[in-house]
Amino acid sequence: MENIQSIKQRFEIIGNDVKLNRAIEKAIQVAPTDISVLVTGESGVGKESIPKIIHSLSHRKHAKYIAVNCGAIPEGTIDSELFGHEKGAFTGATQTRSGYFEVADGGTIFLDEVGELPLTTQVRLLRVLENGEFLKVGSSQVQKTDVRIVAATNVNMFEAIKKEKFREDLYYRLSTVEINIPPLRERKDDIHLLFRKFASDFGRKYKMPTIRLMDDAIQMLLKYRWPGNIRQLRNIAEQVSVLEEGRTISATTLHGYLPNAGNTNLPAVVGSPKKEGDFSTEREILYKVLFDMKGDLHDLKKLTLELLKNNDTEKVQEENQNLIQKIYGNENQDITEDNGAPVEVLHLPEPHAEQPVTQSFQEDKYHFAEEIEEEETLSLQEKEIELIKKSLERNRGKRKAAASELGISERTLYRKIKQYDL
Ligand SMILES: Nc1ncnc2c1ncn2[C@@H]1O[C@H](COP(=O)(O)OP(=O)(O)OP(=O)(O)O)[C@@H](O)[C@H]1O
Ligand SMILES: [Mg+2]
Repeated sequence: MENIQSIKQRFEIIGNDVKLNRAIEKAIQVAPTDISVLVTGESGVGKESIPKIIHSLSHRKHAKYIAVNCGAIPEGTIDSELFGHEKGAFTGATQTRSGYFEVADGGTIFLDEVGELPLTTQVRLLRVLENGEFLKVGSSQVQKTDVRIVAATNVNMFEAIKKEKFREDLYYRLSTVEINIPPLRERKDDIHLLFRKFASDFGRKYKMPTIRLMDDAIQMLLKYRWPGNIRQLRNIAEQVSVLEEGRTISATTLHGYLPNAGNTNLPAVVGSPKKEGDFSTEREILYKVLFDMKGDLHDLKKLTLELLKNNDTEKVQEENQNLIQKIYGNENQDITEDNGAPVEVLHLPEPHAEQPVTQSFQEDKYHFAEEIEEEETLSLQEKEIELIKKSLERNRGKRKAAASELGISERTLYRKIKQYDL
């Protein structure tokens, strides 16, 4: 059996906390079996390494490992993604398609954010877990698969069960073994270690001397709550590495980077532009508002043009359902792409409700937008693409984390990824 230290090295896991070691040890022990494992822990604690460890130490290691982010797949397509569909199962299902459970036969499926699965999908999943059987969407022919499931969640599953959002029987089936990853605030000894590691990585990446924390700054790191855990610690190490000119960081400087750092004896850093993360400066918020408006304007222009060209309103409506949906939103109406395949129903939030801006700021943006030059807007769009790419890269392609970092909803991010073909 591989030991904990070599596993940590292989999977680039930093830390020596007893609870973290216990979690890794549990993953090593359970790997050779086919037992279902549920990985729990707050957002950003490092849950994603566990299923990889389990798969790579199991007899399934040469077969497929598929990670599915259940929270990012639209409800209308998730059954088809997971279990496949039969030709003609729904409009646009022009051919039979295999789902992940068929493709991963003999391997492992990691169901990330399993708490987000719709109830109907939970029923299908329960059946696979119980006897390896599933049905393609639109088929009545039972298929068999041999897949090991590792799931993860950062939500309180008991709450979800109480609210009838998650089936209790499925929960017990998934969590035969539960591996909990402790939050960073409970791993005091790892905090500075991780910070040093990230600071050194970013120093190298940006070709700058590595930042160093003064004692009072280290104490501040240790006292901080770390609601975003290791993901947040890494982001902060990156921000400080890039934005600070001096390479020795005091608590006063660090305080400006820690949202809600609370009552320290330090002078409060009021209105620090860096306080809430990467993208919260007014200018960047303004950029985002403008990008959204530009997108809406573009869609409206397209629709108006269609209406001008074609006098048949009904036909235009029919042919541009997606666009109309995108511009006006319609929570109750399913939409299909031109090829008929189900696509995500984009429930657009109230105009810019997700922007952390004040009312007066929102009013101003319309006035401002009228004066924007085409060229400038283009470069703004490039800037947005760059921000999204950077955030996705930083979060290793994880849309949920990237969306929260960018201050937009996951659906909006999904739409933008499609829009810019990222
Ligand atoms: N012990 C660790 N050492 C080094 N990096 C780590 C460690 N734990 C987590 N990370 C890094 O922190 C980031 C967040 O980890 P991960 O994506 O696994 O979080 P998560 O628990 O799945 O969060 P969420 O519930 O939000 O999906 C990743 O970039 C990961 O590489
Ligand atoms: Mg995760």
